[in-house]
Amino acid sequence: MITMKDIIRDGHPTLRKIAEEVQLPPSQEDQKILESLHEFITNSQDPKIAEEFGLRPGIGLAAPQINVSKRMIAVYVKDENDKLYSHMLFNPKIISHSVEKSYLTAGEGCLSVDQAIPGYVPRYARITVKAYNIDGKEIKLRLKGLPAIVFQHEIDHLNGKMFYDYIDETNPFKTIENATPIER
Ligand code: NI
Repeated sequence: MITMKDIIRDGHPTLRKIAEEVQLPPSQEDQKILESLHEFITNSQDPKIAEEFGLRPGIGLAAPQINVSKRMIAVYVKDENDKLYSHMLFNPKIISHSVEKSYLTAGEGCLSVDQAIPGYVPRYARITVKAYNIDGKEIKLRLKGLPAIVFQHEIDHLNGKMFYDYIDETNPFKTIENATPIER
């Protein structure tokens, strides 16, 4: 199982690389890696397991964060209506997005960033993602609210982007135009 020692931290060059497309149908090896990302996230949200193994709680993880530069992400997050978004995806791609933005009022965090970096991170309020599930079947997801933000954060990891890249350096809490604030 993945633990914190497997997660590379800010400054590691892999976090800034464009990750490679996964060959489809997925190999057993890639499926195992993707399952292990998802297992980490669910483990990290289990208080007992998290304490036993010293896991920081997370709601998403991308393969580059375990130093595998391939396009895979795992998400395990509930929206404001308690609907669960539990996904293991290969080659996720944002195929359309709203003009309207959103942001988390508490800012974002990342398992690869040990310190808190305060500030608003502008995201699209709504996105449509095309991806392939663990079996290599194409799926489309329409997302808004917190799940939309998590998917954008994780897909950014596949493109070498970090959440703090978007924070306004001179005024981290600058009002974001045409944006809905989201409380978590
Ligand atoms: Ni992250």
